[in-house]
Amino acid sequence: MNYKKLLFLLGLAIIFSTAANAQTYKYIGAVKCKMCHNKPEKGEQYNKWAAGPHAKSMEALKGDEKTNPTCLKCHSTAGSVDSGLLAGLKADEGVSCESCHGPGSAYKATAIMKNKQMALSKGMIEPTEETCKACHLGDKPDGHVAAKKAWNYAEFVKVISHDDPTTN
Ligand code: HEC
Ligand code: HEC
Ligand code: HEC
Ligand code: HEC
Repeated sequence: MNYKKLLFLLGLAIIFSTAANAQTYKYIGAVKCKMCHNKPEKGEQYNKWAAGPHAKSMEALKGDEKTNPTCLKCHSTAGSVDSGLLAGLKADEGVSCESCHGPGSAYKATAIMKNKQMALSKGMIEPTEETCKACHLGDKPDGHVAAKKAWNYAEFVKVISHDDPTTN
């Protein structure tokens, strides 16, 4: 093996080990977030999510569709990630908190959550329009029902809003 090829392989090894590290964050499920994110005076995020379209997204699937990976990719957080990463997240939760905020196993501790930069370095994701578009404008199977309304981020994000009135 020549030197260049060896360097190339070493580079690949580093890239793959970094990717493997990023994958170790696990999905803990909405009930864990609820412990801290359901106070009425702080915006009761859990109740708002539970009453919204995402928590009900498994109800749209019938029979075999509930286990069809093609449907689960967008209708279920649990069904869209490697089963080895499930640590509490349930399939029937539908599109759960962690589809938008990132897998919570390493950022869920209060001390980390209170420090946004630290939370971001432990797997938290700040959702943007791109997060939504992966599902809303992603490749849907032939014959999929048409969206009731054309995609409009500002409008759609209002429908699922769960702001904390005590933060900026
Ligand atoms: C042990 C309590 C606790 C748990 C469990 C917890 N959080 Fe938090 N979270 C906090 C605290 C404290 C803050 C800081 C803001 C505040 O005081 O409400 C926060 C902040 C956040 C923020 C705002 C970050 C920012 O600054 O923009 C998001 C988003 C969030 N949490 C999502 C989640 C999700 C999703 C889960 C479950 C996977 C979760 N949290 C679990 C306590 C918790
Ligand atoms: C690329 C992501 C994606 C895939 C893959 C996908 N869906 Fe959907 N599905 C959505 C989105 C987003 C909506 C909400 C559309 C809207 O804005 O009204 C939806 C809505 C639906 C609805 C309407 C629900 C309602 O409350 O009106 C049904 C039924 C449905 N999907 C069934 C399926 C089935 C069955 C499959 C698999 C064969 C599937 N979907 C695959 C993203 C997807
Ligand atoms: C479909 C995507 C999506 C889901 C599902 C979702 N969120 Fe959010 N969340 C958002 C968006 C978008 C924001 C607004 C971010 C911003 O304002 O910068 C947000 C904001 C937040 C905030 C910060 C509120 C503030 O004003 O400081 C918290 C805390 C939070 N979410 C917790 C949760 C919890 C807990 C769940 C599940 C019970 C959940 N979210 C489910 C997309 C989502
Ligand atoms: C993991 C995939 C996924 C992500 C990410 C996602 N959604 Fe959804 N969303 C869905 C599915 C599936 C439905 C359909 C639920 C149903 O009706 O059964 C839906 C429904 C909705 C609806 C109700 C639409 C209607 O007309 O009934 C709104 C509003 C919405 N999403 C907003 C958002 C926003 C805003 C974001 C990003 C912050 C987002 N979604 C991210 C999958 C997703």
